[in-house]
Amino acid sequence: MAVTKSIAFAIILLLPLAIADVQVINGKIKITTLTGSFCPHTVDFVSQQLAPAYEEFGEFLDIEFIPWGRATLNADGTVTCNSGTNDCWANRLHRCVIDLLQDDQAAQMRFMNCEFTERTAFLHGSYACVQDIGLNIVTVDYCVNNPRRDNLDADAAASSAEILATLNAVPAIIFNDNIDESVALYTDARNRLSSLICFALAEVPETNVTGCTLM
Ligand SMILES: *[C@@H]1O[C@H](CO)[C@@H](O)[C@H](O)[C@H]1NC(C)=O
Repeated sequence: MAVTKSIAFAIILLLPLAIADVQVINGKIKITTLTGSFCPHTVDFVSQQLAPAYEEFGEFLDIEFIPWGRATLNADGTVTCNSGTNDCWANRLHRCVIDLLQDDQAAQMRFMNCEFTERTAFLHGSYACVQDIGLNIVTVDYCVNNPRRDNLDADAAASSAEILATLNAVPAIIFNDNIDESVALYTDARNRLSSLICFALAEVPETNVTGCTLM
């Protein structure tokens, strides 16, 4: 045990992981992510990092998606997207679905993983991932086409403005609502999120998480 610990310690010294920046609060780590349907880096992050980390550690995660990219909410209530109409449409769809699934985090994660694996909404304007998740397509379509009947655009615009003003990154990745400009933390979140989460959880014995490895 002592030997294992000192080996782990030595490896951590050699390859510093930004775990000091991620903490477990009341048994959970909150991860907020600002996503963009167009953005290839969001595709990689959601499908290669967040979804696998959720699969492994979902019971300890509280995930908040802000599907907005770098859009602008205009004074007349319309939204302009820097990557065009498909980007706008797909991000709006993501906001609607995340809202409709607000009490089911696992379903939110399945949906976003579907969207950022298949990219059916962005590439094809399709509701295939909505169907996969079992939501009523008529309800979703109504939401997508009636943005003035809810505050989803205004809420996402407000949250994103604060995040982008500091981080200027899509995907933005924020732990425990602490908008942290650390490049090391962002690099780890983008490349080895499961390790980052595992080591943070292992600091809390009650999680029973052990045996973390660096990736
Ligand atoms: C950790 O293990 C203990 C003992 O087996 C168990 O009672 C507890 O529920 C576990 N905690 C978690 C978060 O799985």
